[in-house]
Formats: sequence, structure tokens, C-alpha cells
Amino acid sequence: MTTPQHPEDFLHSIRTRSAAEDGIFWVDDTRLGVFEPEAARRVSAENWHRFVLHDRLIDMLRRRRSPEVRWSEIRSAWLTQLHTLSTPEHHGSLVDRMQRIIDERLGEGVDLVMLTQDVALRSMLPVALSGLTSSEAEVVRRDLELKLLRLVSPEPAGVWHHLKFIAVQLRSGLVVRRVLRQRADGRRGRELDLADPFVDLLPRLGMDRALDVVTTVLTAIGGPPGTAAASLLYEFVRHPEWQERLTEELSAVDPVAFRTAPTHAAPVTHRFVKEVLRLWSPPLLLVRRTKFPFDFGKARLEPGDWYLLSPHLIHRDERVWKQPDVFDPDRFLPGAPHGPADRSCYVPFGWAPKKCVGANIGTVQLMALCHLLCTRYRLTVDRPESLTMALRFAPVPEDFRGRLALR
Ligand code: HEM
Repeated sequence: MTTPQHPEDFLHSIRTRSAAEDGIFWVDDTRLGVFEPEAARRVSAENWHRFVLHDRLIDMLRRRRSPEVRWSEIRSAWLTQLHTLSTPEHHGSLVDRMQRIIDERLGEGVDLVMLTQDVALRSMLPVALSGLTSSEAEVVRRDLELKLLRLVSPEPAGVWHHLKFIAVQLRSGLVVRRVLRQRADGRRGRELDLADPFVDLLPRLGMDRALDVVTTVLTAIGGPPGTAAASLLYEFVRHPEWQERLTEELSAVDPVAFRTAPTHAAPVTHRFVKEVLRLWSPPLLLVRRTKFPFDFGKARLEPGDWYLLSPHLIHRDERVWKQPDVFDPDRFLPGAPHGPADRSCYVPFGWAPKKCVGANIGTVQLMALCHLLCTRYRLTVDRPESLTMALRFAPVPEDFRGRLALR
């Protein structure tokens, strides 16, 4: 069987097949779809258990073995930094950065997908890699923007674009290497960001693997946070009744409580964000390769086989969600009859032990965006009645143009 070219048709066809075939089936000749919640949880848990950071190609060519570094060490370094960054002051700085970026574009007619992407990425960049000069930040931002454009663009990129993409990627890699090296030899100050723990680990990791680790975070902040923010704006526009509920809650919320623990201070807004992430989880498909054999009963994976996971398909599965295509944040009220059947059915941040380390700060950022939309800005959208969502690597609102003005 061949894969239909258009991602939308492809997704539609596997959703239909997934419903008929209980979530586990060969999507094509080489990839097994694992869209049943419990099977997806199990394959992720077993596949990444004791995962070790690979040697780079260059190590293999030189027949050099790098010291073993477990992925769990990398993740715990990230999580420790993120825990330290989880204070009202740091949340406040994130919001200030978001606000500054939106303020630069006030009143201008803009592509709202690109604007939310810019806001999400540039405000999160100092969390990932801080203390950059403006030209260094520009190179890194440009690299991430080109990566995203390749993913969301409906047209395949031409040769010229491909060459430009590689050149920018190389320059961005050089920036990261320089930052790590200069922090290690004291020419640059240490920072509270997700790159800094790897300065101390450089002797064990080596520069190539340290670059891979930092690139993982940069790529992670360059995609899902921005597309999730665009989806949030999309549902905000489509549901004036929810705009009202959010505005009521957020205009009365205590600012300190909101900066300290937004999900507790603003539960209605939290439900709204959770529902946006249920309906429009980015990325739509995760492609993985198994290191172990798995027997799912009706299908088997052998080591080296590819499989697909999809939070999106699990969130749209009628066997575990009632009316999955309906946008209703109240399904997250405790005991709601149309709520998640169990924890394995709601996976916008993926699965342990590879689950997104930025889940909390990503949620804080989306809630802060709601706060800004309800208390500081007024959003106007061109042709709100004809808005649609395209399914590319992630859900992307189509022809989503409008402007933000001060209230
Ligand atoms: C709403 C925003 C976000 C969404 C929807 C999201 C979603 C995801 C998903 C689905 C994965 C893959 C998990 C898996 O393979 O099972 C992932 C991985 C990851 N995310 Fe996020 N993410 C978001 C924001 C962030 C932010 C803000 C950061 C960093 C500050 C971040 C850092 C990472 C990292 C480092 C990984 C790779 C984890 C690993 O390989 O162990 N994410 N994210």
C-alpha cells in the first residue's frame, strides 16, 4: 500500500482505519501505527528504558567510543533547571518578553500563525539558550523558523531553499558550540538555561553530543509551542462564549497568584488550554524506531522497525472520548461524562520516559497568552466566519490574518 501524498488525506485515512482496526495496524509497508493508548504507553516505556546518547557518525568513522551518557541524565539536568526557572519572577519575565514582541506589531495586519510562532519562540529562547548577542539570537531564530516553515509549508522546498536551510543550520550550530566553549573557558558567563548543565558535562559528552542535546531543546521550542499558540488563538476566535468566560476569570485573577501557579489561580483558562491541546496536539505524528521486539497480538515489531505514535489520533478516538471532535473545555471538569477515560487517553506532551520536559512551562506560556488576550489586547481577525484548520506536521490555521490592538 502506498501513502497518500497530502498529509490531510493521509491522516484522515489512518483515522478511519484506526477506528476499524482497534488502533494497531500497518499504515504502509514499513510503519506500524500504534494508536491504541495503552499500547502507545507500553511501547514508549519499554523502547526508551535505559536509552543511551548515541555516538555521533564522526565517532563511528574514527572508530572512537564516547563515554556512555544515559538520556535520563540529560532529562534530569533539564528538569532541574526548569524547576529552578519555575518561579513567579521567571514566569513574569517570560510574559514581559511575550508582551514586548506583540507590542512591536500592534495595529499591524499580520499572519497570526507567524506572529504566535514568533512570540512563542522568541519569548522561550532565553529559557533554552540565554545570553546571546542579538546577531547570535537572530541566527538561531532564523534556523528554527526555516525548520518550521519546511514543516508547515504546503509546498515542497526547492534546491535553493534547501541549501539556504543547511547553511543557516550550520551557522546556528556554530553559535551553540561557541556559547558552550566560551562558558566552559570562562569567556562567557554561566546562565540559568537548559544548555548550561552541559557545560560541566562537556568532558564526558564531547562537543558534538552536547550540540545534539542543545539542538533537541531548540527544535522542541521552535515547533509545538508556536503551533499550539496559533491553535489557541483559533479556538479563542471561534468561541466568543469562552472568550467571555476567560475574560471574566482572568480580569479578576490575583496577578501574584497567577504568576505563582496559573493552573490553580485560573482553572477555567487551564481547561481551555487543555482542550486546545487535546483537539490540536502538535506534532500530529511521531515517527519512532524500535530497539526491541514487541508483540501486540495482531502485529509484531522487530528491532529496527519503524512505528508511528499520535497524540492527535488518541485524542480523536471515539472509543475513549465522547464526541471527540467537539470543542468543550468543560470535559476536563472532575467527573465530566465526556472527560478522559483514563490518563493514557490524554497525552499532548507524549509518553514517559521521553515525555516533553517543557510541559509545565509550555502550559504557563499558553495561559499567559490567554491572559494577554483577555486583559491587554483586542484581537480582530479577517473573515472569522470562514476559518479552517489545515493538518500539516501540526495543525495550522489557514489564512489566519488579523491584528492586535491595545484594549
Ligand atoms: C504547548 C507546548 C508544547 C507541546 C505541545 C510539546 C509537545 C511535545 C511532544 C509531543 C514531545 C514528544 C514526546 C514523546 O516523544 O513522547 C515533546 C518533547 C520534548 N519537548 Fe515539548 N512541547 C511543548 C513545549 C515545550 C517547551 C516549552 C520545551 C522547552 C522549554 C519543550 C521541550 C521538549 C524536549 C526537550 C523534548 C524531548 C524530550 C526527550 O527527548 O526526552 N517542549 N514535546
